[in-house]
Amino acid sequence: MTVCRQLATQLVRSGRGILAADESIATMNRRLYAAGVPATEQNRRAYRELLAGTPGLAEGVAGIIFCDETLRQRFADGRTFPEAVHQLGMLPGIKVDTGAYACPGLGELVTEGLDGLPARMAEYAALGARFAKWRAVFVIADDLPSGVALWANAQALARYAAAAQEAGLVPIVEPEVLTEGEHSLERCAEITARVHAAVAEELVAFRVDQAGMVLKPNMVVEGNRHPRRATPEQVAEATVDVLRAQPEELAGVAFLSGGQPPERATANLAAMQRHTTPWPLTFSFGRALVDPALAAWRGAPRRVPAGRAALAARVAANWAALRGLGEPARV
Ligand code: G3H
Repeated sequence: MTVCRQLATQLVRSGRGILAADESIATMNRRLYAAGVPATEQNRRAYRELLAGTPGLAEGVAGIIFCDETLRQRFADGRTFPEAVHQLGMLPGIKVDTGAYACPGLGELVTEGLDGLPARMAEYAALGARFAKWRAVFVIADDLPSGVALWANAQALARYAAAAQEAGLVPIVEPEVLTEGEHSLERCAEITARVHAAVAEELVAFRVDQAGMVLKPNMVVEGNRHPRRATPEQVAEATVDVLRAQPEELAGVAFLSGGQPPERATANLAAMQRHTTPWPLTFSFGRALVDPALAAWRGAPRRVPAGRAALAARVAANWAALRGLGEPARV
């Protein structure tokens, strides 16, 4: 088995999920500021150590995605983040795209970061990363996304995935159809299917080994301004339906949360488990795992245990969801 296949198996076939703690500096600063925490390098570091150092995290989390800054920072005890995460029984990962920008001539968001990518990947691998992530986003509107935006983002995702595998890093391929809008669940399903088809075509063209790759899609949900909220069963059915087009050899599917309330993301994940699929369906949530921790911590060293307890509670709930168990009772 290749290195990427082995690592992908560890990541998504061990009954655990992935923690996305890879907000860019700008996004992290906004979230710290909103929580009343000064947006400094020291606070970004402290917050990520709070998350990664949560006791028992490895029971429910197989890997943690960081951004470039965190991968180079250290725990208070002097270990680098990748060293500490390995020692805690998880795999460190790295977000390698440099963000989504309005594409000249198009106006739609296309993700950048391909320039110099193989060299950066080699450096990240040397720093201890074992997997990578690249996110492309798609806005739903009457005439969006355009075919050109689909193709441009899909091609970048596939080029990145091929480069990651050449560097021995498992690529997490994240095409995210955003929830902003009034669209129905059916419209989200239609666009998600089109996005996946474009990505699949490019992955084959760039000879990406899908047994050594993780797909990180959005769940199929209605737009955030749609009048009716779909049930977990409806979300699960629509999502699994769209995913049926994925190849059987794909290592696994790890969903993003996309701004859903944490409990809803977990309930949807639990409902997915009632469907039989050739690949595991797990979580790679950002906000649905970390928002409660940030709210509990609010930058105070004495509230680190409260922040960790909040993260541990969300991880436990998603661990239970993967096993078809209900949300644990709150204590
Ligand atoms: O890039 C976004 C993360 O990978 C997932 O974050 O669960 O908050 O959507 P989210």
